[in-house]
Amino acid sequence: MHKNPSKKYRPFPPVALPDRQWPDRVLTRAPVWCSVDLRDGNQALAVPMNVSQKLELFQTLVKIGFKEIEVGFPSASNTEFTFNRRLIEEDRAPGDVWLQVLVQAREDLIERTVESLAGAKRAIIHLYNSTSPAQRRIVFGLSKREIIQVAVRGATWIKERLPRLKGTEVMLQYSPESFSGTEVEFAKEVSEAVMDIWRPTPKRKMILNLPDTVEVAMPNVYADQIEWVCRNIKNRDSLIISVHTHNDRNTGVAATELGLLAGAERVEGTLFGNGERTGNLDIVTVALNLYQHGIDPKLDFAELNSIIEVYERCTGMTVPPRQPYAGELVFTAFSGSHQDAIRKGLNEWKNDRRKNWDVPYLTIDPADIGREYREVIRVNSQSGKGGVAYLLESQFGIELPKEMQREFGPIANEEVDRLGREVTATELKQMFWREYVERATPWQLKKFETESKNGVVRCRAKLLRDGKTVEISGEGNGPLAALVHGFGKIGVPRFEIMAYSEHALSSGEEAAAIAYIQIKLANGRTRWGAGVDTNIELASVRAVVSALNRS
Ligand code: KIV
Ligand code: ZN
Repeated sequence: MHKNPSKKYRPFPPVALPDRQWPDRVLTRAPVWCSVDLRDGNQALAVPMNVSQKLELFQTLVKIGFKEIEVGFPSASNTEFTFNRRLIEEDRAPGDVWLQVLVQAREDLIERTVESLAGAKRAIIHLYNSTSPAQRRIVFGLSKREIIQVAVRGATWIKERLPRLKGTEVMLQYSPESFSGTEVEFAKEVSEAVMDIWRPTPKRKMILNLPDTVEVAMPNVYADQIEWVCRNIKNRDSLIISVHTHNDRNTGVAATELGLLAGAERVEGTLFGNGERTGNLDIVTVALNLYQHGIDPKLDFAELNSIIEVYERCTGMTVPPRQPYAGELVFTAFSGSHQDAIRKGLNEWKNDRRKNWDVPYLTIDPADIGREYREVIRVNSQSGKGGVAYLLESQFGIELPKEMQREFGPIANEEVDRLGREVTATELKQMFWREYVERATPWQLKKFETESKNGVVRCRAKLLRDGKTVEISGEGNGPLAALVHGFGKIGVPRFEIMAYSEHALSSGEEAAAIAYIQIKLANGRTRWGAGVDTNIELASVRAVVSALNRS
């Protein structure tokens, strides 16, 4: 890479639009959607789709609810011509679906394209030619005037052939390809020249598609370009302004959404962003983004998983695991604190469905698109104390006191780090047991008895200290106070009990209670201990011994 990239690359010139309106607008309804999934067989896929794959994908697009579907480039290959013919002759397109065909401004290609449409109920003929300075100079070697002539000739050849499509309702579409790299004034000029030929009216509009063929700037610049055209082009009310974004800078979705704010009414894109190079706009994302804001997207993704399955089978592409809404991992929570928050949010939602959806970390209810929220229960070296505690609680009903979580969290993390891998919930519990419950050195409890008289509790305990039997006795206002007293009598450095809690362990082999005790040593340091026993008094005594063993 260059140390000084400005020697090789230049900034993108902004559009002069100081009173831009789009930043203050909000989206309130779905645009007209046009799928271009079937077009790019030759451009986009390593192995282009065959006719039967295209037919299957077409049916899926219809089922999702697309009313405009670009079926390809019929003049470019036999596959695409045959595919279009089969759709028409086998009457596969419902009456309200427009079949869109793409064609360059060449007479022979236009002729074949019109031929491919004979008998269609509704068709959009999409003409394009490239208009940016780089394309004009490098690819075509044409002046602005000559580029306009290319567009005008193409538009005229199409117009001349329209009488051949009697019985077909035809809509016309023009794209100044590489629009976002074109001077806005020139894009307007060439588009208006096409409009002069096609003569759209408010009743019989034409589509003016303004593609972000190659993303060359930030999405706000694209929005400015769209707003500039919407405000300056003649006969705006005879046009349906359409956006068609790509993803070279990974902002196709943002560019489309801002383009809609800027005045566009129609969106071209593909399922999951398939398309040449970095792909086309991902329509699923934009549609579900609208849905997330309570706007009916007019596309049905209730069975997203089966749509993914058809898409992957037909195109040979895969949906990445982090793809918004569709990726395998987007409704999966790994972190304990996320899982905890999501559970609380889901519980609130289940208890009162009149409220709006407001579940932390889940922008929409996965069930709405046929998916499921999933928790992956595991701990890695980065899991916080909350995650560790959540796992112990959710899997084994072990409710660590908050302060004890702070002690055990780093111990668990260190152990996971040492192992160099994630650990399961069972392994985590084993760690806890080893660290607290099973500690048997230097002290091991063998026997503990109490008797109580006049509010004074006396205890007698038999313990092993480094394998040797030690008997202690003590008294206090409860069994633990008596035990502490007994330890003091045999010269164990003074300690006091700071915190105590206990609860029953839900079930399983323990069928017991667990007690947690925090002790404070003479040097001011604190230690937690835990003990498990079917007898709650013994559980707490074991917890004191556990804490002492850890001091
Ligand atoms: O990206 C693009 O410019 C296109 C045009 C043909 C509309 O796909
Ligand atoms: Zn494109």
